[in-house]
Amino acid sequence: MQNIRQHFPLLSQTLSGRPLVYLDNAATAQKPQAVIDTVNELHASLNGNIHRGVHYMAEQCTARYEAARESVREYINAEKACEVIFTAGATASINLVAFAFGERYVRADDEIVVTEMEHHSNIVPWQLLCERKGATLKVLPFADSGELRVDLLPALLSQKTKLLAVAQVSNVLGTVNPVDEIVRAAHAAGVPVLVDGAQGVQHGRVDVQRMGCDFYAFSGHKIYGPTGIGVLYAKEKFLDEMPPYQGGGDMIKTVTFAKTTYADLPYKFEAGTANYVGAIGLGAAIAFLSTLDPAAMQQQELLLLRRATEQLQDVGGLAIYGNAAHKSSIASFAFGNLHHLDVAQILDKLGIAVRSGTLCAEPVMQHYGLTGMVRASFAFYNTLDEVLALTEGVKKAKKILE
Ligand code: ALA
Repeated sequence: MQNIRQHFPLLSQTLSGRPLVYLDNAATAQKPQAVIDTVNELHASLNGNIHRGVHYMAEQCTARYEAARESVREYINAEKACEVIFTAGATASINLVAFAFGERYVRADDEIVVTEMEHHSNIVPWQLLCERKGATLKVLPFADSGELRVDLLPALLSQKTKLLAVAQVSNVLGTVNPVDEIVRAAHAAGVPVLVDGAQGVQHGRVDVQRMGCDFYAFSGHKIYGPTGIGVLYAKEKFLDEMPPYQGGGDMIKTVTFAKTTYADLPYKFEAGTANYVGAIGLGAAIAFLSTLDPAAMQQQELLLLRRATEQLQDVGGLAIYGNAAHKSSIASFAFGNLHHLDVAQILDKLGIAVRSGTLCAEPVMQHYGLTGMVRASFAFYNTLDEVLALTEGVKKAKKILE
């Protein structure tokens, strides 16, 4: 892992004469040169709209787009490539399911279950669905440690429950949820499960078949790929039964004013010009990740988390939120007497990028009675020196603000 940083040109920048310390990887990850080169190559010398033209540019781009779909299929171990839908991101994927699944299966008085630790993108689409259909949103709580109260799940599930949506990893608490166990419990009650993989997929290969989930959503930009591209994995059975989410070019078989028939999977759910540059860039990111040793990546991320946790605890006056036994490389904290935004701004002046605020998860803040937190999130390219810079920066912020 020592030479890994050389693949990420952005990381060697300086800001106001200080080396950039980028610790906002849960918001977006930096891009390896291979992804930058792929996107540049397409814009500079290989651009033709996919699935339409018979000319060289169109055919090359189509072939590479479909190859990227196959790379994603393999990375998440989906059974079939037609179960991989390209979207604009995890949020778009979840909205697609909330609309199309909702239209097909959800009626008045039905229930959807989410958890208390979800990102807004795995809450609001379900609220919109419930409002449309007259259904009810139920919430599985988490304990103060940051662990889901999975023991309460059976009591929440009933004949009325149409779907359960849960994060693989919390973007605030870092908790790695026992999604396999949750899927088994939900399926035992006849309830399909959507797993929000936005904070999970970048930490190692995912196996959707082993997980057993019915839907899995993630974004390209958090897995070292471009922005504006994401994935929805869904079991073929659901994709077959669900109506299209958006209408337009490429998602149809025939169109007349009397009746339109829809394209086969996955195209039924990919209306309009797809973000093929983004998808091919995502394929390049997956190819890059495949050259790394997943065990070494995870070991590095967990080492950074452990060291950051120890050092932050020594700062004094702050609490770390999210102490689950199984945690991903996210350290969120808040001072009793200092504002999270002030701390983040001082860190920024020191060249250290963290996220602060409600972290798109207001219910988590409400759980702890906070207005916001500071979040440092680590990728395998971060170093122990950067962890030290963070904790020294936090001490400095504390001193200035106090
Ligand atoms: N969902 C991203 C985050 O947690 C933006 O920061």
